Amino acid sequence: LALRLAEAEVSVLIGSRDPARAASVVGELLEPWPDRGLEVEGVGNKAAAEADLVVAATPWEAAVETAGELAGELRGKVVVSVANALVKQGREMLALALPRGSVAQALQVALPASKVSAACHHLPAGPLGNLDKTVYADVLVCSDHEDAKDATIALLARIEGIRPLDAGSLAAAGPIEAFTAVLATLNMRYKVRSTLNFAGLEDI
Ligand SMILES: NC(=O)c1ccc[n+]([C@@H]2O[C@H](COP(=O)([O-])OP(=O)(O)OC[C@H]3O[C@@H](n4cnc5c(N)ncnc54)[C@H](OP(=O)(O)O)[C@@H]3O)[C@@H](O)[C@H]2O)c1
Repeated sequence: LALRLAEAEVSVLIGSRDPARAASVVGELLEPWPDRGLEVEGVGNKAAAEADLVVAATPWEAAVETAGELAGELRGKVVVSVANALVKQGREMLALALPRGSVAQALQVALPASKVSAACHHLPAGPLGNLDKTVYADVLVCSDHEDAKDATIALLARIEGIRPLDAGSLAAAGPIEAFTAVLATLNMRYKVRSTLNFAGLEDI
């Protein structure tokens, strides 16, 4: 996602618990694309203080704790939740039922002074990392804050091939996150990296 946003001329900061690790990850990300002028910098979790919009992209178990630690830095900002609470059982991925209904809703409770949106749950990181190939995908975006949803949609719309769609309030985050389990199971069984493309929305 960082690479794709950078290619869309967004200046991207990568967070981490360890700024040196963030810098090393950025080195690996940019190494195959030396001539594209991509602006990605690894800065550790001060990214939360410096960025205008923050994508919370830790494993789901760590999302609420990490966000809580950075609540001051995230005050007033749009925080995009991308996490899926899944567990693998045999050849199947299962969605976990969370007390707040979704990771995104739990993040919104942990960050009352921020505006949480949820997006990108069905976008596979691997294909996104190959900038030579456009990823054509619909991305469901939801939030209880219309301005946060609009900002998230505007950001994602900058990525070629991505069509962000308004999926309503944050109540939609539960089913959106849970459906990722189905996609992941399809991916395992058919050995593919599938994503979502809705029929019937061609004329919007
Ligand atoms: N991968 C995909 O295709 C994909 C697609 C859609 C959505 N997602 C969602 O995006 C999120 C990130 O996915 P990912 O594949 O990038 O996961 P990941 O590589 O396992 O984790 C991302 C980063 O989170 C940090 N992290 C790991 N454990 C942590 C902890 N206990 N506390 C705080 N930070 C921790 C690590 O950074 P540091 O060690 O540097 O701090 C790690 O590099 C997940 O919630 C996933 O469900 C992933």
